[in-house]
Amino acid sequence: MSELVLYRKYRPKSFEEVVGQEHVIAAITNAIRTGRAAHAYLFSGPRGIGKTTVARLIAKAMNCANLSKLSEGKFADKLSTRRSLGEGGFPIPCDACDLCKSFNEGRAFDLIEIDAASNRGIDEIRELREGVRFVPSQGKYKTYIIDEVHQLTKEAFNALLKTLEEPPSHAVFVLATTELEKVPATIVSRTQHFDFRRPNVSQIVNRLTHIAKKEKVELEPDAAHLIALAAEGSLRDAESILGQVMAVEDKEITRREVESILGLPRRESAKKMFELVAKKDASGALTLVQELHDAGHDLTYFSKLLMQYFRSALFLKTDPELKKFVMGEMLTDEIDCITAHLSLFQAGDLSRAVNIIFDNLQSFKKTPIPQLPLELTVVELIAGSEKNAYGEKIKVI
Ligand SMILES: Nc1ncnc2c1ncn2[C@@H]1O[C@H](COP(=O)(O)OP(=O)(O)O)[C@@H](O)[C@H]1O
Ligand SMILES: [Mg+2]
Ligand SMILES: [Zn+2]
Repeated sequence: MSELVLYRKYRPKSFEEVVGQEHVIAAITNAIRTGRAAHAYLFSGPRGIGKTTVARLIAKAMNCANLSKLSEGKFADKLSTRRSLGEGGFPIPCDACDLCKSFNEGRAFDLIEIDAASNRGIDEIRELREGVRFVPSQGKYKTYIIDEVHQLTKEAFNALLKTLEEPPSHAVFVLATTELEKVPATIVSRTQHFDFRRPNVSQIVNRLTHIAKKEKVELEPDAAHLIALAAEGSLRDAESILGQVMAVEDKEITRREVESILGLPRRESAKKMFELVAKKDASGALTLVQELHDAGHDLTYFSKLLMQYFRSALFLKTDPELKKFVMGEMLTDEIDCITAHLSLFQAGDLSRAVNIIFDNLQSFKKTPIPQLPLELTVVELIAGSEKNAYGEKIKVI
């Protein structure tokens, strides 16, 4: 099982299957169902969160031969809550007609995808302007998806603008970008713009669990959580990591295996360091730094992990209600560990700790001794709460 296969295989085939993006999908499916779909959409947001997926679903839905069965406006009152389900659970697209099938099998003629990252110039857009005039060969609409549209050259944008100003009635454009600020305002104003949101960790965990189940793989909850954290909000990255892990370990996936396959230092060592700092065990902390160094771990990454511990501790110390944000970044046993040691810190210690780690992180690039920044970090963390008679922090070294 290669990683590529996994995230292609699980590209959602229906609007219902798309994770998150409810605000986008409700608006678009309502518009399609009532015959008021826009001729140009602009999707912005980070990579791997469903922009291309939704664009393809729009193409399929607008061409679905059964769409006209939903007469205009008749079910409008029910639609907003039922997402893409119409009368009697009639989904759009139907996924049963020949046109839907051709889209599902990736052989739809009237879907044209252009990657603007590699086709940036005027020639490609001229070609598009020529082609767009011809009527679709199968369904009612021809859909052009232009990915990474911000990469187009100025001339290409101007040519595209002309097409967007007077699109033939059978044309639908979906422009997608990860860098909205680079798309000219003239283009933005010609489109209906939707901002896609990053799914949260639990949405990613659910999707990974669903895929693992379909693949008949045992995925430990902590392993799923760890993959979701490593993916930093991208479902594609999450699925690609899962694929990578499955290529090595395909029956039962544990947190340990995910860590070792991703080459991550054990999160447990960050937990141990947090405890050592909490107990002001400088000797233990320095020993742990040497062990991490000897084991060849990435100490910059480790420092970031440690920073997450103190940042989470700061949140929890400030208000236990803030736990919901911490849960997106830490595993359950880690949160328990932080909570158990919280009384050993003042809120001031914690914000200072985040600052100390942050400052020392900058020195990893220029240090002559690789483990030095982390050593300074832990010593300063432990010294941090010792104050002199004037309430000033004492530096131990
Ligand atoms: N919102 C989502 N719901 C379900 N799967 C998703 C979602 N976003 C991304 N994916 C997964 O990641 C893959 C790539 O998504 P894609 O729509 O191409 O992302 P984008 O265009 O935003 O970079 C999909 O094939 C799917 O497996
Ligand atoms: Mg894309
Ligand atoms: Zn159909």
